[in-house]
This record gives sequence, C-alpha cells and structure tokens, in this order.
Amino acid sequence: MEQVRLQKYLAEAGIASRRKSEELIRDGRVTVNGVRISDMGMKVTGNDLVSVDGKKVVLGKNKIYIMLNKPVGVVTTVKDQFGRPTVIDLVKNIDERVYPVGRLDYDTSGLLILTNDGEFTYRLTHPKHEMKKVYLAEVEGIPEQSDLEQFRNGIRIEDYTTSPAEIKIVGTGKAASDKRQDISSLLQITIHEGKNRQVRKMCEAIKHPVIKLKRIAIGDVKLGDLEEGKWRYLSKEEIRWLNI
Ligand code: URA
Repeated sequence: MEQVRLQKYLAEAGIASRRKSEELIRDGRVTVNGVRISDMGMKVTGNDLVSVDGKKVVLGKNKIYIMLNKPVGVVTTVKDQFGRPTVIDLVKNIDERVYPVGRLDYDTSGLLILTNDGEFTYRLTHPKHEMKKVYLAEVEGIPEQSDLEQFRNGIRIEDYTTSPAEIKIVGTGKAASDKRQDISSLLQITIHEGKNRQVRKMCEAIKHPVIKLKRIAIGDVKLGDLEEGKWRYLSKEEIRWLNI
C-alpha cells in the first residue's frame, strides 16, 4: 500500500468522514504504532498499526491479513490438546480473532498467513487454484540430476502422484546440525499442492530426507527478512496478489 495521510486512512477504513477523522486526530484519540499523533501531515501505510481510542483500525471492513514467521516447535492450530505453543499464541496482541490459512508442520518454520476472512481462506486453500508455495529444504546428501527430474515429473507417494514441482540445488555443505558430519544440500522447492507432509515425503522418496524445512513464499508473497516468531500485516498489494 502506498503512503496515505492518516485522516484518509481512517476515512477509508470507515471510521469517520475525512473531516471527522481530522477531529479525532486533533483530539489526541489516534495512535500510530503506539505513538499519539496530532500532526495532520502524518502518512501511514498498511504496515502501520493505527488505533482510535486504543482500538485497532484495519482497512477493508476489519478483515485482517497477517504473515507470521512460524518457528519450529509451534503448532498450526488455534488450540493444542497437548498444551504446546500455537501460532495463535504468537499473534496474541491482535484484537480480532484470526485463523491460519493452511498449515505448516510442527517441525517446519516460515511463512504462514493468518486472517479472519473465511472466503479468502477458502479460495487460497482450494486445490483448483494451485497457489505455488516455495520452500527451502536442507536435505541429507546431494541429489543427482535424476532425483531432480523425479521432482519435475511427479513422484508416486502412498496413494497419489505429485504434480510437477520445481526444484534446484542452491547450496551444498556440511549439515547444519553439530552431530552430523555428513554433507547436506539446500534445495529450493516449489510445489502447487499442499498434501500432508508433502515436501518431506517427496524428499524421502528420492532418499534425501529433510533435515530442516522452511516455507519462504506463497504465490508472490515473500517471507523476506521477517524475524522468526514475529508477524506483520500484509500490504494491500500482497493481499491483492493472493486474491485469486
Ligand atoms: N511440506 C511438508 O512436508 N511440511 C510442511 O510443513 C509443508 C509442506
């Protein structure tokens, strides 16, 4: 989202007319990223946290869309029966109730989108849209060209054959774990489906099991340098990219 004046932002969010929004600012009722604003020239983007009377303002009829960099050891559910930390615990400071869009395994890190927009979730997770998902996988050993070809052609896993995936080796070296002395490879893998533990199973199938797995993009939305365990609002542009 480009920068817009705070009063325009408030008006677009349906809080009040632009003139009334100026009054709210003048009366000291508006904060941006926790700082009380009285300057009419203040500009904000979709990444700023704007509040009126302490209550968050979100463009788009209070539909909210965020990205979280999920750490390993956190479950992608709203509540866990074993009391393990959930992705919702990591977005506690949001007033609206949000839900994960799709899931990442307990032992996978990276980009997870959460929203309170059920339609958006439905569309994004519907198999017919085949939204691409990009992963970085550290795997044991160095796959051969023929292994990469299997990824590209489709791999038989259990009762299905995966649709063609993209794969490239982006690095090789000593495995990250202290205990492992073996060589590992870093693969960038793009899949267009989302079956249970699919990337792990595909890597297993070519006999290069996953050591670490991280999702770095969904469609054109990239995790970038968002710190692990942290979240941010998606920009309007990012929401548009995902609105298929
Ligand atoms: N594939 C996997 O194996 N695990 C994930 O968490 C996501 C994709």
